[in-house]
Amino acid sequence: MSEVGIERMGFATTGLFLDMRDLAQRRGVDPEKYIIGIGQSEQSVAPSSQDAVTLAAAAAKDALEGEDMDPIDMVLLGTESGVDASRAGAVYVKELLGLPDRIRCVEVKQACYAATAALSWALDYVSKRPRKKVLVIGSDIARYGLNTPGEATQGAGAVAMLVSSSPAILEIEDDGVFLTAEAEDFWRPPYSNCALVDGKYSTQVYLEFFSRLWKRYREETGRSIQDFEAFLFHLPFSKMGLKALREALKEADPDTASMLSERFEASAAYSRRVGNIYSGSLYLALLSLLEGEALEAGSRIALFSYGSGAEAELFSARVKEGYLSRLSPERHLKMLEGRRKVGIDEYEHLFSDFPPSSPQDYVCDKRYFSGPFRFLGVKGQQRMYEADE
Ligand code: HMG
Repeated sequence: MSEVGIERMGFATTGLFLDMRDLAQRRGVDPEKYIIGIGQSEQSVAPSSQDAVTLAAAAAKDALEGEDMDPIDMVLLGTESGVDASRAGAVYVKELLGLPDRIRCVEVKQACYAATAALSWALDYVSKRPRKKVLVIGSDIARYGLNTPGEATQGAGAVAMLVSSSPAILEIEDDGVFLTAEAEDFWRPPYSNCALVDGKYSTQVYLEFFSRLWKRYREETGRSIQDFEAFLFHLPFSKMGLKALREALKEADPDTASMLSERFEASAAYSRRVGNIYSGSLYLALLSLLEGEALEAGSRIALFSYGSGAEAELFSARVKEGYLSRLSPERHLKMLEGRRKVGIDEYEHLFSDFPPSSPQDYVCDKRYFSGPFRFLGVKGQQRMYEADE
């Protein structure tokens, strides 16, 4: 079978961030709990004019810069921050990007696992049609509510991947192992714009799923921890991935353990500043690693994708020669550095300014418009978007 995987990657977040030390001070918590205990230093804050659609389109624009759009046959959006219960957000994304009508656009949902499910569909698709490409995007805004334990793990952003049979960045191997079992760890009823979560239990389920899949992966492939140059995790907060890594490192020799720990830190660098972006989170870890570390061609990476509810997958991928030339570390660093810091009062105001879940019209605050695509508001129960000229 021919190689398939990721040819281009892009990333977008909002133009605002919250410093976790400021949040800790206002909530009366020791800042070290957020910075070290949870492992987050900043979180992107979304004004209502940035939603899963605008962030997805911005990440896709970043990934597709200078790219021929003609081979793109499908847009798959993994999200749990869907803007409509019926229509796929991918349809709005396609319009904002100016992609042709002859393509397919679908939204995929299963908590933070959605982008991985979309990726696997895309890989199968391009395996059968090697001249075609699929745009896969994970885009979300993680909202738990003001003054909740989950608040320190909120975030907003999207990662886009162009999947093809010319995987200039990463070849994805066909060795995934899966696990699904009902768990009441995290969910969001349709009436709520914030997730409900049994936080401590959710971390237990995550770790249990990782251990079961890692055991099965080793049994089915005959590989061990020594066969990997990096281990990536879905990062709801960086400490969560670190706990899972420690589980895997139990069988590693000291050199492997120290290399994998160092690379884990590189993979968590973007996430520490952006927060949980749910569906795109594992792929933000991938981007962070690839843009932060020089990996040799052929290096094998393990990827653990987890979505509450719960479903998980563990699979592997190999880095391609010259991958860095297809990425944009300077642009992404500039994007993070360019965000404006908001104080707690402004953050709380923005958090509460959410489009109503009722038929009334709603207008987004123009003062917070940023990025190449904006959600303008709701008129006559229809969402309105605009793109830069
Ligand atoms: P909490 O209960 O307030 O925190 O919230 P805690 O008391 O467990 O403390 C956190 C850590 O800080 C602990 O470290 C403390 O010891 C440490 P640990 O024992 O875990 O290693 N700590 C300190 N460290 C240094 N200095 C100090 C200090 N004080 C304490 N002074 C919780 C934590 C994760 C429960 C909360 O943030 C939460 O509910 N988050 C949301 C749920 C979540 O992210 N779950 C992760 C697994 S589920 C998942 O990944 C799926 C998800 O992305 C959704 C989806 O799939 O769609 C969420």
